[in-house]
Amino acid sequence: MLRVSNEYVRIYDTTLRDGEQTPGVTLTPDDKLLIAKELARLGVDVIEAGFPIISKGEQDAIKAITREGLNCEISGLARCERSDIDAAVSCNLNYVHIFIATSDIHLKYKLKISREEALRKAVEATEYAKSYGLKVEFSAEDATRSEREYLKQVYKAVVEAGADRLDVPDTVGYATPKYIYDLISELKTINVPLSIHCHDDFGLAVANSIAAIEAGASCAHLTINGIGERAGNASLEEFVMALHCLYGKKTRINTRLLYETSRLVSSLTGIIVQPNKAIIGENAFGHESGIHTHGILSNPLTYEPIDPEMVGRKRWLEAGKHAGAHGIAAMLEEYNLKPSREETKIIVNRIKELADKGKKITDADLLTIATEVMHKSSIEGKIKLNDFVVTTGINVVPTASVRLVFDGKEFITAETGVGPVDAALKAIQKVTSETMSIKLKEFRLEAITGGSDALAEVSIKVEDKYGHIASARAAGEDIVIASVQAMIEGINKVMLKRVSDTKSGLREYTV
Ligand code: KIV
Ligand code: ZN
Repeated sequence: MLRVSNEYVRIYDTTLRDGEQTPGVTLTPDDKLLIAKELARLGVDVIEAGFPIISKGEQDAIKAITREGLNCEISGLARCERSDIDAAVSCNLNYVHIFIATSDIHLKYKLKISREEALRKAVEATEYAKSYGLKVEFSAEDATRSEREYLKQVYKAVVEAGADRLDVPDTVGYATPKYIYDLISELKTINVPLSIHCHDDFGLAVANSIAAIEAGASCAHLTINGIGERAGNASLEEFVMALHCLYGKKTRINTRLLYETSRLVSSLTGIIVQPNKAIIGENAFGHESGIHTHGILSNPLTYEPIDPEMVGRKRWLEAGKHAGAHGIAAMLEEYNLKPSREETKIIVNRIKELADKGKKITDADLLTIATEVMHKSSIEGKIKLNDFVVTTGINVVPTASVRLVFDGKEFITAETGVGPVDAALKAIQKVTSETMSIKLKEFRLEAITGGSDALAEVSIKVEDKYGHIASARAAGEDIVIASVQAMIEGINKVMLKRVSDTKSGLREYTV
């Protein structure tokens, strides 16, 4: 049932702190600053910029973020230790998130202190932070596994000591929505604003965060892409969209920037978003089956709960085993190809035959089949690769130089990379992203046969700035050459889509 409230739910983003605690992730101060700027643009209310005590690099990053004068509050994490609070102050923070564990398991095995001592530390730390005039948000770590009366005693004591907000962490993702609802309802009587901080160990982080808001919490701690320790934190994009669309509540988030922000965080952290992730996953607005594409084409709401543009995305259709005539005709129309009914039938059958053999059908495959069936000459690409050279080895930085011709103009460029494929694709992208705003979106490499002379198959997806996506594939013994060929093929296909896009008047290039 849709309940409408005019209040803004406060978004406390902890991508740069809890998100950075994802195993294998370390962000440089420059990366952190870039993400912070993007988060501010997105419209979060608070950025938890880091944990100041942990390193000099962390402090440099937080200082750079506080210096930037972003249009949101900036906080930092601190244990209940004077040194942690001093470190926060030295980073020019005026907002600290202080925490101490309150569950018996943490007190006994981690902190090795009594409940009384933890209470005393929490109060002293709050008073110390307040003596600097800091805004204090206090977290009882592992709150959901803490004995209820003791938890309330700690929360009440820190509020008396001056804490401005209380946060309720479900540190190991152990709670259920009902449990969170009841807990928040009980804590609300303390009469300070409450935040919720959920982890996703049982996949309930977003549901639990929403239950907290329903019970009266005013803020949620979230991360972009749901990154964080173990299974991660509640994901910002899922929480925000569910809140807006299903609960009728508001936040200050500009939802159209969600996908862009997700991509930036994914590329800087190196944490890939699973394809079927809600809102920001590759497949969230992709359709393959005939029944679905048919429905989508007559009214997208048949198989999409929201317009993808709401979150800065475009829907895409893919040819495959479940394809139907309507979907295939619509896909070909994107390339300005209009097969007859009979031709469409043959194209669909050829696609199904290929898919039955386990083949994934790329845009390039679809066009090859369609032009054959329609007796058209194959479509010439706008970009031609004249030559490329790659050097690699031990103690050598892999470097590639390419010579491309686009619209009669020659482009020569060189790039380095982590390996020869990376260097070659970066060199091509250097030209295409500057001149055509086309970027590599997906890259997959598979060995088809065994042995050192194995046949490798490279599949890629590229995207232009208008959200046109095209896929292509190439196979060969040399993975660098196959990668380059697939890339050029994909770029040519996406260019064709752009040229044919009459709806948005994007006739920048003519074929
Ligand atoms: O999950 C957690 O308990 C935390 C605390 C530091 C609040 O991240
Ligand atoms: Zn956490």
